[in-house]
Amino acid sequence: MFEPHRPLGREEICGPDAATRALSVTAVENDFVYKVYEYLAPVYDYTIGLGLHPGRLDAISRMRIRSGDRVLEVGVGTGVNLSLYPRDCAVTGVDLSSKMLEKARKRVIRKGLRNVRLAEMDAANLRFADHSFDLVYAPYVISVVPDPVAVTREMLRVCKPGGRIVILNHFRSDSRIGSWLERVISPFTLYLGFKSDLDLPAFLVQAELEPLSIEKVNIPRIWSLVTCAKS
Ligand SMILES: C[S@@+](CC[C@H](N)C(=O)[O-])C[C@H]1O[C@@H](n2cnc3c(N)ncnc32)[C@H](O)[C@@H]1O
Repeated sequence: MFEPHRPLGREEICGPDAATRALSVTAVENDFVYKVYEYLAPVYDYTIGLGLHPGRLDAISRMRIRSGDRVLEVGVGTGVNLSLYPRDCAVTGVDLSSKMLEKARKRVIRKGLRNVRLAEMDAANLRFADHSFDLVYAPYVISVVPDPVAVTREMLRVCKPGGRIVILNHFRSDSRIGSWLERVISPFTLYLGFKSDLDLPAFLVQAELEPLSIEKVNIPRIWSLVTCAKS
């Protein structure tokens, strides 16, 4: 009469086509993203960037960075996170946009951050050796890049075995109305620098990530902090 309890498989949780379905209704190229952020750079900190700060603070406190850790921040932008890292870890920040990086460089000087180095680089083609970092962190970036899976592969490659990959991002809502709305507006949110409808279950399957935890952060709590270990 009763079926024995059977844990749900990945496919049942993520959907049968998670390995192949499109992550978003939109597609974007690096050239477009570059132009958007060159344009946003002067106002980013006071507009889009401002409302995202509670999530950054939550992420930093939950990451428990250790003394001496080597941290890579992918999509460092204007460097809003840089003064949040402990001063006794070594931080490398990379970004596609030269204007966002220019802001980050000024911030590093203004705040006297001697533990930070910055470089212009495409996150899908990181110029670092394998296993270079203890923590690879992508705050508000994975829904910005053209190919989130390629970027995650690079993040995994440069992370040391036993290290962590942390992704802070907005993903498509679980609710029917929310997800419908996010798909409708996604072609327009591209002009604000992100896709509003990135599919988290499909992304996790395609990027071959098995999260240790997924926590909701920010206000409202519609952003996710996804923490994964590199085995
Ligand atoms: C929403 S901002 C996030 C900035 C910062 N992490 C923060 O917490 O505010 C996204 C950043 O990702 C950068 N970006 C977009 N595509 C990139 C790529 N392919 N490689 C590296 N950075 C990229 C953008 O230039 C921008 O600075």
